[in-house]
Amino acid sequence: MVSLIVDAPTAREALVALKDPLKSASALIQLKAMSILGALVKNTGHHFHVELATKKWMDRLIKMVRTTRDSRVREKVLQLMVDWEQMFQLQLQLDEFSIALHRLKAKGVELPPPSEKGTRRSHRRQKSGDTTVNCSTGAERTLTRKESTKIPQTAQLTAIEILMTNIQADMSNLELGIQRPEILQHEVADECRQHLQKIQVVLSTDLPDQAMYEFINMSDQLHELLGLYDALYTDGTAAELALDREVSELKKLDAQIRDEDEAIAKKETEMAELQASLKAAQQELRLAQDETRQRSLRAPHNEKQKAMYAKMTQVVSNCVNVKQAASDLKSRMMDELEKMKQENAKFQVELEDSLMEFPVLMEKARTGESKAFLTLKKLYTIEVNTRKQLYNKLQELRGNIRVYCRVRPLSEKERLQHSENMMQYPGEGEIVVKDGAKQRAFEFDLVYNDGTTQEEVFEDTKPLINCVVDGYKVCIFAYGQTGSGKTYTMAGPHNNPGINRRALSRLFELVAERKDVEKSIVSVSVLEIYNENIRDLLASKVDDTVKYEIKTHPQDGQYVENLTSFPVQSLSDIDAYMAKAEKNRSSGRTNMNEHSSRSHMVLYVVVRTTNLQSGVVTVGKVSLVDLAGSERVGKSGATGDRMKEAQCINKSLSALGDVISSLSKNDSHIPYRNSKLTHLLKDSLGGNSKCLMFVNVSPASWNANETINSLQFAFRARGVVIGTAKKNVVPS
Ligand SMILES: Nc1ncnc2c1ncn2[C@@H]1O[C@H](COP(=O)(O)OP(=O)(O)OP(=O)(O)O)[C@@H](O)[C@H]1O
Ligand SMILES: [Mg+2]
Repeated sequence: MVSLIVDAPTAREALVALKDPLKSASALIQLKAMSILGALVKNTGHHFHVELATKKWMDRLIKMVRTTRDSRVREKVLQLMVDWEQMFQLQLQLDEFSIALHRLKAKGVELPPPSEKGTRRSHRRQKSGDTTVNCSTGAERTLTRKESTKIPQTAQLTAIEILMTNIQADMSNLELGIQRPEILQHEVADECRQHLQKIQVVLSTDLPDQAMYEFINMSDQLHELLGLYDALYTDGTAAELALDREVSELKKLDAQIRDEDEAIAKKETEMAELQASLKAAQQELRLAQDETRQRSLRAPHNEKQKAMYAKMTQVVSNCVNVKQAASDLKSRMMDELEKMKQENAKFQVELEDSLMEFPVLMEKARTGESKAFLTLKKLYTIEVNTRKQLYNKLQELRGNIRVYCRVRPLSEKERLQHSENMMQYPGEGEIVVKDGAKQRAFEFDLVYNDGTTQEEVFEDTKPLINCVVDGYKVCIFAYGQTGSGKTYTMAGPHNNPGINRRALSRLFELVAERKDVEKSIVSVSVLEIYNENIRDLLASKVDDTVKYEIKTHPQDGQYVENLTSFPVQSLSDIDAYMAKAEKNRSSGRTNMNEHSSRSHMVLYVVVRTTNLQSGVVTVGKVSLVDLAGSERVGKSGATGDRMKEAQCINKSLSALGDVISSLSKNDSHIPYRNSKLTHLLKDSLGGNSKCLMFVNVSPASWNANETINSLQFAFRARGVVIGTAKKNVVPS
């Protein structure tokens, strides 16, 4: 027998016993465990090899190689594995060794060469099929094929073989016991000593060589193990001391850790206690604060708090008072509300009654039957008249140019053309021109609508005429667009005369009324300014070559030198002279007006009055001016002479505008001399005259622009203050 044969359970137990030492953190123990494993492989039989040559065990060993930090361990494992592979390379069922080595190589692990020395018993294949066996003594003996295959798979153990097995088992146990003292059975050591003695006995017998070598080898190993055992457990060697030291160090460390744990636990306890006391302190503080607050409210104990407390008490008391007052007020309001509701209900009833009567009252009012309505109307008329009189008085006192606006009716032609009447009269003295979407409002001293009669117009002019007999100078002139009704207003048709004739008629009336106290002589002159030339229309023969000069008399003011003057005593005289003047007047026909005045015509009426008692002589004069119509040259369709007329008319009217503008601005220089017209009207516009201007306008929308221009001009003129008129008393 060349090998120690073990059964499968024994092999398994031996390997299980080695697992932990191989995993030990101590390299020494790992090395020892590997030595034991190596010895077991060498000295046991096939079952042990099969148990070892598993993937599990190979993994375990590979892991050792890869994880150990000790090169000795790594080298030992690798060496054993290489040797095992060599040893079992013929046995296919043990191929795990070569697979494990292959894996290691694949991971870059350098493998050592097989160790001849380390494998005391290795099997190398020879060509002949024989196997060379290394004996523990170092001698090498070649077994025949017959012998080598003679190694039994299951054995009929002889006494020697049993002895060998027992020795081997005890050796393994002792070896393991040395590694793991907790499983060490000291009897095993005694057994091993006895085995040594037995080996001595056996060796003295005649044994086969192989068995002898085996026993010798075992004996060496037993000595080795027992020496180790004695060193550890019998001799009290340095290892034991080192172990003791380690144990004592560990104990110290353990004690230290325990101390630290205790200290930590103590600190934690202290901390918890501190936290608890902090919480309690906070709670106490809160309670104390509440208490303080309560106390300060109940019983203020410093001045500031006292003052605050007093103030709060006062505020509370005020609140109570206010609440009471509010409650009183509310109840009073409720009473008032109730009363109001009752009154309202009463009023509702009255209102409903009144509403029932309202239509009847309205009807009465409309028909003028209501007494109240009539009274109101009367009062209103008085009020209007009084206001008018006062205003006139004021104007007179201020010496303004008074402006009356007169709107003519739409002409037959305009009506046929469906021209729109754009005039509105919102109130006394007010006029609104509604030109499409645009509206222009003006205010004048008086406004006459298109239905106003000649008589009504003269009624408002009469007071001025009255003044003439008293020695005042009066100027009445009509201004406006051509065809707007200037001539109609001033001269008027024969059957419905205008200002001129009515003024004279009035003068004659006055003269007649005063004939007992005054003697008055009324004389008339008529001139026209045509193309900037003055023409004497009452001259026996109108001569356009004669130049009439405008002069200024110290008392009478402006006058025209050499102008024919005729005394008149009746209306028929006037009609005759007016007819003569009309006959001599220059007039043309334009598209705008078939009987257009192409010149400015002035009728002077002078009243020389001598007071029969005092002999005082006063000279009054009224200048009645019918201006030529302003017109746009293009619109009038004028050419040639008509064009020249139009240009002269416009030029003189423009000069009139400049004079009015300068007067309204109170300029130091007034450009009277820019035209014959303004020069002639100098003492009427800027002197001590009473001046009335009629602004005549057309209501037709077609004339909107000219109408608005005329109204603007007149409005400006209305602002001109010419000063308070004075009586013209002629020194006797
Ligand atoms: N208030 C009025 N009532 C009735 N018809 C009037 C009225 N005003 C003017 N007319 C008529 O309008 C026409 C033009 O009037 P008028 O000749 O007075 O214009 P005008 O202003 O003198 O024009 P021109 O500047 O061209 O001389 C006349 O036919 C006139 O009878
Ligand atoms: Mg005219």
